[in-house]
Amino acid sequence: MQLPRLVDAAFDRLVVPGYSRLGYAARRAGWQALRPGSLEGRTVLVTGASGGLGAATARGLAALGARVELVVRDRGRGDQAADALRAEHPGAAVGVAVCDVSSLADVRRYAAEVRDREAAVHGLVHNAGVMPPERTETAEGHELALATHVLGPFLLTRELRPVLRAGASPTSPSRVVFVSSGGMYTASLPTDDPEFRAGTYSGGAAYARTKRMQVVLAELLADDLASDGIVVHSMHPGWADTPGVASSMPAFRRVTGPLLRTDEQGADTAVWLQAAAEAGHSTGVFWHDRAPRPTHYLPRGAETPQARAALWTLCVDATGETA
Ligand SMILES: NC(=O)c1ccc[n+]([C@@H]2O[C@H](COP(=O)([O-])OP(=O)(O)OC[C@H]3O[C@@H](n4cnc5c(N)ncnc54)[C@H](OP(=O)(O)O)[C@@H]3O)[C@@H](O)[C@H]2O)c1
Repeated sequence: MQLPRLVDAAFDRLVVPGYSRLGYAARRAGWQALRPGSLEGRTVLVTGASGGLGAATARGLAALGARVELVVRDRGRGDQAADALRAEHPGAAVGVAVCDVSSLADVRRYAAEVRDREAAVHGLVHNAGVMPPERTETAEGHELALATHVLGPFLLTRELRPVLRAGASPTSPSRVVFVSSGGMYTASLPTDDPEFRAGTYSGGAAYARTKRMQVVLAELLADDLASDGIVVHSMHPGWADTPGVASSMPAFRRVTGPLLRTDEQGADTAVWLQAAAEAGHSTGVFWHDRAPRPTHYLPRGAETPQARAALWTLCVDATGETA
């Protein structure tokens, strides 16, 4: 039975019921199962797929018949995740590719390699995520959370545009999904200091700011790529018990332990966005538990057009892409 809309919304406003496994259990009762084989013939790339939600997303996509590429920064961990996927889904088509998405040079190299080898790509899931304990810069001089969550994904999406366009058809667009976080509700777009050079650095704040940027970037890319038949969505997974939560937020994990979702539950909406018809009929939407969610709870929190334009300029200038 479907959760009444008002109850569903109240779950999210109260955070714990909505984000925990309680919300997942209550909502899933009203969901239709995704059709096995619904992703046959589709190739989907998942970043940060060596563990946690990325590996679970890859397993969920493979279960629906997709050919999946695990995009990882460590070949050994990627091979282990691929072995686990094949053990769970014998016969699954799974590949492993090494790319550090925080490195613009590596993203450019990887995207060129994909363009050379693939005639078409149908889906891309920007899942790789970090919560740096201290301010760290990449070799190219960008703050690590910004590079991992925003600049690398922007560049990868843009550089894969030709193969994503080739994967799109009038009845089935190619799909790009950003795995953001409910933590983004606590942050606004950091237009003055996106590289977090001023003030006291906090990994949690850097994380929330860049997760907010992902949601706005998904909206901007949705407009940018619409004419190519590519839809772009963002989502948040709720709270799931992953290696990342264990290492970056041990106190949070101790308190919320039994309420945390499994990896599969956290990954569910990212998988659904690649497969469900509804997600192909819209673009630039923020989702959680298979439903569109507000990006702001207070109207005055919404970004100004100038702030949105500044994010676009930041991405274009940092990557050298065309506006
Ligand atoms: N778990 C939650 O409750 C939760 C809640 C909200 C949002 N999220 C989001 O969900 C996504 C996955 O989170 P998770 O909890 O599964 O985290 P996780 O367990 O830490 O996994 C993160 C993955 O990203 C990879 N990664 C990090 N930096 C990378 C880079 N530069 N290039 C390529 N791969 C990189 C990691 O690879 P290594 O194996 O090499 O470290 C790992 O596979 C993140 O974007 C996170 O912000 C999670």
